[in-house]
Amino acid sequence: MKQRAKVVPLAKGEVLEIGVGSGLNLSFYDPRRVDHLLAIDPSKEIWNMNQIDTDSLGFGFDFEEAYAENLPLENNSIDSIVTTYTVCSIPKRKEAFLEMKRVLRPTGHIIFCEHGRSPERWIKMTQDVVNPIWKIMGGGCTINLDIPKVFEECGFRINQIDTMYIPGWKPACFNYWGTAKAI
Ligand SMILES: C[S@@+](CC[C@H](N)C(=O)[O-])C[C@H]1O[C@@H](n2cnc3c(N)ncnc32)[C@H](O)[C@@H]1O
Repeated sequence: MKQRAKVVPLAKGEVLEIGVGSGLNLSFYDPRRVDHLLAIDPSKEIWNMNQIDTDSLGFGFDFEEAYAENLPLENNSIDSIVTTYTVCSIPKRKEAFLEMKRVLRPTGHIIFCEHGRSPERWIKMTQDVVNPIWKIMGGGCTINLDIPKVFEECGFRINQIDTMYIPGWKPACFNYWGTAKAI
């Protein structure tokens, strides 16, 4: 089962996707649960690479060129925030999570799937060694983030989390996925 298929269908109501990229998650949303999706990304060029007919998604859809650190949304307006493989690329993470907290309704959740810090000593050491060059080569991506710690330090409580290596080079493939709620 694809990682995206494990998390994206959980989104419901008014949904915000942060760092939508070229829209690889869009076909995994459940149109019976989603009323409207606002997808943001600072790169319109990446978004424009998609071949998706957004009129046939089965729910309202908008794309906006925007940063997670400055969300174009009212306070308490979102039920689900979806982020997949994006937290690692956000430069001002604390500001971004403050913004997510601001726009989420009290009943809302972040639904996430991210790669991050491995529990294995040698893989962890490799991640720490390659991180500086990885950041330069990978457009700002951090390879060694302790994902639960990031959420907790930024004011969110993890409700549910799973982990595993997906196929590929182990330092880049340790995945965390689940849901979190603002404290
Ligand atoms: C590795 S890609 C993941 C794309 C998509 N979420 C996916 O799962 O295929 C990371 C994305 O984060 C976006 N990004 C980088 N900095 C960001 C920021 N400050 N706020 C929101 N998105 C950002 C990038 O433009 C890129 O599209």
